[in-house]
Formats: sequence, C-alpha cells, structure tokens
Amino acid sequence: MKFFVDTAEIDAIAELNDLGMVDGVTTNPSLIKKSGRDIIEVTKEICAMVSGPVSAEVTATDAETMIAEGRKLVEIAENIAVKVPLTWDGLKACKTLSDDGHMVNVTLCFSANQALIAAKAGATFISPFIGRLDDINLDGMELIEDIRTIYDNYGFNTEILAASIRTVNHVLDSARIGADVITAPPAVIKSLANHPLTDKGLATFLDDIKAADIKIL
Ligand code: E4P
Repeated sequence: MKFFVDTAEIDAIAELNDLGMVDGVTTNPSLIKKSGRDIIEVTKEICAMVSGPVSAEVTATDAETMIAEGRKLVEIAENIAVKVPLTWDGLKACKTLSDDGHMVNVTLCFSANQALIAAKAGATFISPFIGRLDDINLDGMELIEDIRTIYDNYGFNTEILAASIRTVNHVLDSARIGADVITAPPAVIKSLANHPLTDKGLATFLDDIKAADIKIL
C-alpha cells in the first residue's frame, strides 16, 4: 500500500520523507490556504522533495479553464497529478488531461457510481472521502469496498486513493480492503506507530535497566 501525505506543510512532509514513508503528496485549496503559501511556489518545493505523485487541485469549475489550469500545473514538475472535482466538467477535464498523458486525481468522490464514471474518463486516481461520509453517519469504508469490487470486476487500473482519513482504523480498514493508496495527515501516519502496550512494556524495561544498571555504551 502506498502512503501519500495529505498536507502542504513542507517540514511535515520532509520528516516523513526522510523515513521513506512518502510515496506521494495530496494538497487541496484548504490545505494550501492553511500553509499560507503561494500554490505554485509551495507545490514546486514539494515536487522537488518527493519523487512520487503530488496532487495539485484546479480552482476553476468549467472544463475549459480546468484544462488550462491543469496544463499550467503540470509545467511545475513531471510528478504533478492534476486534481479535479468529480463534476461533469471535472470529468471532461480528466479525459483531456489524461489523454494528453498527465496524471489526474479525481477528488470529492462520495459514491461508487462516481468512481465508476471517473475510471471511464481515464482517472489515474480516484479519491473517495471516508471521513466526510462518516461525518454524516454513512459508511466510508463500505464505499472503498464497493469501488474495489467494481474496479476488480472490470479490470480498471484507476488507483483507489482512500482520502479524508481521520483515524488509524481508517488506514487499517483501507489496507484490509485493498485500497491502492491512502492519503492521511502527518499526525495520523505518525500515530500508526503507537500502541499502549508498547509504552507500558518500554516503561517496565526502563525500570529494569535502571534497577540492574544495564549499560551498553
Ligand atoms: C484528499 O485528497 C483531501 O485532500 C483530503 O483527504 C480531505 O480530507 P478532509 O475531509 O479531512 O478535509
């Protein structure tokens, strides 16, 4: 399973990237706003640091302008994936940009039918938003499962990029189902390392190290 980091914060990406945990990065207008940076500048910096796909989202809502924005974004670096919303115009932009040979991430997916039609339009990645479905008491994981089944039934090679990940269980369930990629905030990725029994066991070991005065160096 590939790990993308869902942030535009350079330092947070660098920390995970140094550990080899970053297969790509996703950004969106809210994350760019949060970073306080210019979209082109910060995206360029991320692309120089990370070799995998870096999603940068268009701002327009009509296909023609989305395509023009996408063509400008892909000039930033070879690893740009143009992110377009799952609207009819977004699908038109997806088809044109993917026919041109660019990676396209179709975002804001909330149904399996939307994922099906995005694959038909040549999406490289489909981004189903798990957390936002859970927020309205729907089952985000069920959506990941449905998309996996449908893509496997017909051999679509669009990658399932499980997004809007809020918890470590979202990561675990996505891995169980076979999502190709998860994109998660740095804090969620880091908390995958946590377990209370690890903390408890380490505390005991540290007590014994002190009691027996165990030294290695
Ligand atoms: C994905 O590409 C989105 O940027 C992201 O996962 C949205 O997550 P949120 O619902 O926590 O804002």
